[in-house]
Amino acid sequence: MERLFVLCCVFGLSLSLPSNVFEFEQPQNGGNHWALLVAGSNGYFNYRHQADVCHAYQILHAHGIPDERIVVMMYDDIAENSENPVKGNLINHPDGPNVYEGIIKDYTGKEVNPETFLSVLKGEKDKVNGKVIDSGPNDHVFVNFVDHGAPGILGFGSKTLKAKKLMDAIMFMHDNKKYDKLVFYVEACESGSMFEDLLPKDINVYATTASNSHESSYACYFDKTRKTYLGDVYSVKWMEDSDKEDLTQETLQKQFSITKEETNSSHVQEFGDLSIGQMTVAEFQGLQTAKRHFSEPTVKDYCADKVKSEDVPLESLRRSLNLVSSKEEAVNIQQQIEQILKEREVVNKTMKQIIAMATDDHVLTTNVMETRHKISAWDCYEEVVETADQLCDEYLNIPENDYALRKLYMFVNMCEMHVPREAINAAIEEVCNVGKVNIQ
Ligand SMILES: *[C@@H]1O[C@H](CO)[C@@H](O)[C@H](O)[C@H]1NC(C)=O
Ligand SMILES: *[C@@H]1O[C@H](CO)[C@@H](O)[C@H](O)[C@H]1NC(C)=O
Repeated sequence: MERLFVLCCVFGLSLSLPSNVFEFEQPQNGGNHWALLVAGSNGYFNYRHQADVCHAYQILHAHGIPDERIVVMMYDDIAENSENPVKGNLINHPDGPNVYEGIIKDYTGKEVNPETFLSVLKGEKDKVNGKVIDSGPNDHVFVNFVDHGAPGILGFGSKTLKAKKLMDAIMFMHDNKKYDKLVFYVEACESGSMFEDLLPKDINVYATTASNSHESSYACYFDKTRKTYLGDVYSVKWMEDSDKEDLTQETLQKQFSITKEETNSSHVQEFGDLSIGQMTVAEFQGLQTAKRHFSEPTVKDYCADKVKSEDVPLESLRRSLNLVSSKEEAVNIQQQIEQILKEREVVNKTMKQIIAMATDDHVLTTNVMETRHKISAWDCYEEVVETADQLCDEYLNIPENDYALRKLYMFVNMCEMHVPREAINAAIEEVCNVGKVNIQ
């Protein structure tokens, strides 16, 4: 508060300063800050997603955004999970404090789904049983999403949010003057595909993503007590930055650059109206000076143990194998590892059979598996993913099986290579529904 007061008086006296500096340091036009924080996943091996989002809440809360204007969506099955040895506690850094303490829970369990998310974002009070982003034309809205992803898709538990649906919601908000500025931070594999060639540059929306449109995002901070990863690299990097910087001085662009440099396992991207990057982080994460910080990263903690998101279940088990105290435990973990490897083999075979059947051509099958097209045939792609989501639960388990999500680029390729969508749908039905997958 003191700093703002000083700033306003100094600016008030120096009339020669560019007017935009003044504007950026003030809460805009009497507008409000709003935030929507979402961890889409559930299950103990996804511990890190809810830890990331709890940490994000603590940052916004510490910087003065009131709880009435923060909406938190998370399944809330981790803090009291039977596998969590420290009940009621979630940490997002090896030496970090409990970020679960004082967390608000607006939507939990099955309420964490794409329809509710979109209604909350669009401020549709009558469609949900809880808080919404009830924002107006002078407001700044900050959205942080964390879960699994695939080309043009974000995971939401067992459901998916399609890029086009998200873009429709953003356009609705723009057309209905639901924000002055809107900022997205998205942690998911292939998350660049949610905005690439989709997000207009002239609607006051700025987005950054953990990865580009065709690569994994990464987890880090394996914890030996909890036997899971505590955070995701991009998420912990932006949050550890927010924890140590003066947010009224740091620009979004600077936070982006720092996060991008430190997240060197994937390519952090930015989209939309990049001029918003000149605004301070405080304009979205809260104007007050934090009374408390939620990580004190030291040089040694730069996520040296980072691992691809889809390898987290397997890698967690492999690391746990080194920590067992009995032969029985070791055998049990070994069995779980073998189970995951078997599931991967099923995913491989399912995809290969679908492609072979849909293309009916050896060369084309290889091409589909080995190239990477950008999505342009959105209708075809979204339709076949929907078919696979509906019919292939047993073999692919989209979107909960991150390993299967890494194969969806093959559906993108088939659509881009003009394999008729009817043929792809028929192949999916044949392989998954009629049960042609041949598993030895
Ligand atoms: C990532 O950055 C860290 C610290 O800046 C560095 O030590 C490490 O070698 C980098 N890794 C890669 C793959 O560039
Ligand atoms: C699945 O296929 C990939 C290549 O597409 C291969 O690297 C991997 O070893 C296969 N995994 C299993 C378990 O068959």
